[in-house]
Amino acid sequence: MPGLFIVFEGIEGSGKTLQLKLLARYLRKKGIKPLVTREPGGTRLGEGIRRLLLKDGNPSPRAELFLYLADRAQHVKEVIRPALRGGRMVLCDRYYFSTLAYQGYARGLDLAFVEEANDRAIEGFKPHLVVLLDLPVRVALERIRGRSLDRMEQEAFSFHERVREGFWAQARREPDLFLVIDGTRMPEEVFQEVLKGVGVRFPEMAPLLL
Ligand SMILES: Nc1ncnc2c1ncn2[C@@H]1O[C@H](COP(=O)(O)OP(=O)(O)OP(=O)(O)O)[C@@H](O)[C@H]1O
Ligand SMILES: [Mg+2]
Repeated sequence: MPGLFIVFEGIEGSGKTLQLKLLARYLRKKGIKPLVTREPGGTRLGEGIRRLLLKDGNPSPRAELFLYLADRAQHVKEVIRPALRGGRMVLCDRYYFSTLAYQGYARGLDLAFVEEANDRAIEGFKPHLVVLLDLPVRVALERIRGRSLDRMEQEAFSFHERVREGFWAQARREPDLFLVIDGTRMPEEVFQEVLKGVGVRFPEMAPLLL
């Protein structure tokens, strides 16, 4: 049986990593061992690309796009596809939709081109659910103020606004795929919404989520 693939998306500081960890911990307590992974990263090659993207390198918008896609292609092949084929549940911190939001909507690369290249990178491995944590940029950036910011996090306010709008545009286009959650509330309240949403989308999992 193919596994379930859930992706967490949202702007910087929206709570993706925290919510993903909460869900993974919850599932482990119920006897499900999800594979937890992230982009960029998730493979040895990907961790190198992550460093280039967020720390050492200064890629042009186009180079940036292809680095993210190289990371994703390797991640799908080495990690995501084998896990799903083996029936594992996969929880991934950022995926396909971040590339459209950041490199497409925010950097301004041609959307059709980004989408086409993105599709080629994932070889059909779209997730079953995208949990989009939505909140105002101001609130999210306030949360991560004081920590050492990476290259993306240092972008201008207006850049993050375009990223947020990019996620919204995708959610509007594929409402059945996206679970949009108000990320401004307390972590535990947000998590209850995540559990509720997963239970509604995957009724077979509902008994596990009570
Ligand atoms: N609902 C919440 N309310 C208040 N603070 C939160 C909430 N969710 C997360 N935080 C805090 O905000 C910060 C950012 O959260 P987190 O690292 O989970 O976000 P992220 O979306 O993974 O960010 P990034 O894109 O930078 O990886 C952390 O310090 C976290 O503890
Ligand atoms: Mg994170």
